[in-house]
Amino acid sequence: MSVAAVPAGLVATDVIALRSRARDVVEANWRTGARRADGLPYAYTCPSTPRYRHQWHWDSCFHAIAWSHFDPARAEAELRTLLASGRSDGFLPHTVFWGRPAGWRRAPFYATERVLGATHTETIDPPLVAVAWERAGPWQDTAALGQIGAHLDWLARERDPDGDGLLSIVLPDESGLDDSPKFDVVFGRYAHYKPSTVLLIEHCRRLGYSARRIAACGELHVEEVLVNVAYALSLHAMARMTDEPSWALRAAATERALLARSLDPGTGLFFDLAGRAETPVRVSTWSCLAPLALPGIPDDVKRRLVEEQLLDLRRYRAPVGIPSVSMEEPSYTPHFDRWRNWRGPSWVNTAWLLVPALRELGYEEDAERIVASLARAALREGFREYYDPRDGTGEAAKGFAWSTLLVDLV
Ligand code: GLC
Repeated sequence: MSVAAVPAGLVATDVIALRSRARDVVEANWRTGARRADGLPYAYTCPSTPRYRHQWHWDSCFHAIAWSHFDPARAEAELRTLLASGRSDGFLPHTVFWGRPAGWRRAPFYATERVLGATHTETIDPPLVAVAWERAGPWQDTAALGQIGAHLDWLARERDPDGDGLLSIVLPDESGLDDSPKFDVVFGRYAHYKPSTVLLIEHCRRLGYSARRIAACGELHVEEVLVNVAYALSLHAMARMTDEPSWALRAAATERALLARSLDPGTGLFFDLAGRAETPVRVSTWSCLAPLALPGIPDDVKRRLVEEQLLDLRRYRAPVGIPSVSMEEPSYTPHFDRWRNWRGPSWVNTAWLLVPALRELGYEEDAERIVASLARAALREGFREYYDPRDGTGEAAKGFAWSTLLVDLV
């Protein structure tokens, strides 16, 4: 490794240590076998034991990108396992239970077809599969690309009930940002961390998890920014991998819808839109900044997000990483909260999504500062689920696999 390739604030031996420890984590979390119900073989990285034993869609995308630095065959196996969990109509689940179904204590909190014995949830996760297939591969495989495209088609068909070009989610954890305070105002007593969330899951179960039926009979659905950013990124990736211009047109349509509907001119933030009235959810969390990752968002909109948010000491410029909630929000909670996540701490995938945009816009020093702060925290504390943005204290799950995405950033 040349010294020039090491981000400021780190030395070459840091990067070597980071890579080697990252590899240890993904190796330790690697799981293979055959599903008992139908003998289907699987190979994936579980996020962290003992808490997260299953396969999650967006986690697997991040794992595959990390694996591509060590062993591309495992990256491919992980994504093929994810695709194998899907249905022929293009649906891909949020969580897949390969080894064994969720235990009776956890099972009621998973949005499955039946409470016990399900092999997967009926819900979605941020659809990053095309991004991961391209970044970790790409592997030239028409059938696999067809399946990835079918998932994006399924989302367009099933998750845009009002046809305005923005996908809806019906449960907070479909965003990957389960307990984010932005969902408190929308889901109230049914929020992901409240006991009544099981009633909301039951309601969705009765309606067959159909976004159309759920939207027709209530207000508990959101056009969520991060899911739409992931969707547009995947559409762009499909356009590049297939040379088929219709994917790029669809990506541009989502970007236009975000600009026209989610962008709040007053603050420059992209807000989720809740319920049939599409009420902007005016809570500043990192998903409000996620459109920075999209190529079709104009530079002036991006620069405003950077200057007024990411680099503002009152908002998102913290000593370590990028806080998941603006430090200015009353709900901002930087430390570990046993029952709730995404309410303040810095996660590695946030930096992974936003830092490349900083680099592209010429904020190199800030990009390196953010990466080095997280890398130092990971070297000191291990690959943890998230870090305290004030001092980098490692929090929640240990050996958390997507935090190894740092190898893709340094
Ligand atoms: C937590 C995170 C979610 C992630 C899951 C598995 O629930 O909020 O984003 O997919 O853990 O790691």
